[in-house]
Amino acid sequence: MATLGDFARQHTDLGKEGIGHLQNLVSEWGILADFCFADLLLYLPTKTDEWLVAAHVRAATGQTLYIADFVGSTVVDDRRRIIESSYRSGEIEEGEIPIDGTDGAARMLAIPVRHGNRPVAVLTREWSTRSGRQPGELERTYLEIFGRFAGMIRGGLFPFPGRAADSSISPRVGDGVLVIDDDAKVRYASPNAVSALHRVGIGANSVGQTLSELGFTDSAVRQAFERGEPVVEEFDQTAEVTLLARCIPLFHDDEKSDARERRVTGAVLLLRDVSELRRRDRLILSKDATIREIHHRVKNNLQTISSLLRLQVRRLDSAEAKAAVDESVRRIRTIALVHETLSREPGDDVAFIEIVRPLLRLVEDSLQSPDRPVRFVVHGDGGRVPATVATPLSVVLTELLQNAVDHGFREGLTGRGSVAVQLLQETDADNHAVLCVRVIDNGAGLAPDFDIANATGLGLSIVRTLVTTELGGTIAMRRATPADYDSDADMQAAFDTTAGPGTVIELRVPLSA
Ligand SMILES: Nc1ncnc2c1ncn2[C@@H]1O[C@H](COP(=O)(O)OP(=O)(O)OP(=O)(O)O)[C@@H](O)[C@H]1O
Ligand SMILES: [Mg+2]
Repeated sequence: MATLGDFARQHTDLGKEGIGHLQNLVSEWGILADFCFADLLLYLPTKTDEWLVAAHVRAATGQTLYIADFVGSTVVDDRRRIIESSYRSGEIEEGEIPIDGTDGAARMLAIPVRHGNRPVAVLTREWSTRSGRQPGELERTYLEIFGRFAGMIRGGLFPFPGRAADSSISPRVGDGVLVIDDDAKVRYASPNAVSALHRVGIGANSVGQTLSELGFTDSAVRQAFERGEPVVEEFDQTAEVTLLARCIPLFHDDEKSDARERRVTGAVLLLRDVSELRRRDRLILSKDATIREIHHRVKNNLQTISSLLRLQVRRLDSAEAKAAVDESVRRIRTIALVHETLSREPGDDVAFIEIVRPLLRLVEDSLQSPDRPVRFVVHGDGGRVPATVATPLSVVLTELLQNAVDHGFREGLTGRGSVAVQLLQETDADNHAVLCVRVIDNGAGLAPDFDIANATGLGLSIVRTLVTTELGGTIAMRRATPADYDSDADMQAAFDTTAGPGTVIELRVPLSA
């Protein structure tokens, strides 16, 4: 679908700035339609001497005159006469227009849209004289406001230059309107604005008082008066009520076009209650913060437990008992490490590599002895992994790394020991995400009669329980082949010189339930 910019570039000689002026107008004109209870249309004079309907907006406060969409068509009838006359004179003009299907009781107000020193388009208000709202104070006030905007458009003072406000949550006329006079006093408050004031505890009749006299935040109005520019501001008026305010200053249309010499003669303040919107934002934020805080505390508790166990080790005499408790301490520290990572991450999942890297460092520091130097490397990153998978998997990984050191590189092996961890996220046959973890060492290798199903050690029991029962994954252990080392040049170099063939352990864990 062609936009206003497309129409203007194709059919007129308007430059970038002129087109920008019209785009700004159209991005703001919803509130103008609401103030005048009628359809607004924007007409462009084309290079071929025609008038093209370039944009159309309907009012949220009144009935539309046109069910059909005329954007992209040209006008021929009385409309053309009124539009052209207003464009040439540079004045606002009004006249009767024919409407298909009715007995012709409709009118058009044509407003020349000035940019620089000449009109560049014509904005029209088109309405039926038959239907329409009963005139009351609201109707009179809104129409008068519309008249002031019309004067500013004719004088080139509206729309304001610069980027338009974010219109998706920006308040509209139906949300609540306060009309401010040139003394910054409230001259009119729409029923919805009165309700908004009630909600923040301002029950008094606001007319005739300034906002600060009413005890209402007035910085948007003050800034709009001082700077002569629209101001959008969000503030907590009370502990429960958050308001979004949009203040548009009004000028006399005969003011100088030089912005510094203009005097603000009033303003329109649109108010929207966004408390519910913000409450939801805050709730989501705080839920996230709470989860992180819990991870932080779990980490602290685990650290306390591991310190207590370490104290206990010092009182033990049996070497076997010391080793057993030391191992528990290592397992607990691994889990603490995962919670520490989770406490730093927003949300419920983690980049798995953020856990694996510190885990390898922990293992490097605590597992190896100086006479058996082993190098640890990691390939790939495994992507993001839910916390429910990351925690057991990091315990599993610690066991596997420990086994590689304990059983792969016994005394007397020559060559350099290396352990590689490969992380890879894949999709299975049903297109579900699967995390594939491989731990490869170039050590002594598995005993020929080794069978994981019969392994009775605690380490592999933990691995089996967590991977198959808790995570619903699979484990495979086998002797390594040269192809397994290809991904790592260091391991490749070390392969021939070590005593054993090496071991590969492959875990596959589904990531979606
Ligand atoms: N990377 C490996 N290289 C060679 N053999 C291994 C490797 N990993 C495991 N094994 C073999 O599997 C056996 C079982 O390992 P498991 O971790 O269950 O027990 P453990 O290491 O002996 O004792 P624990 O882990 O309870 O301290 C080991 O004794 C070893 O023979
Ligand atoms: Mg073990």
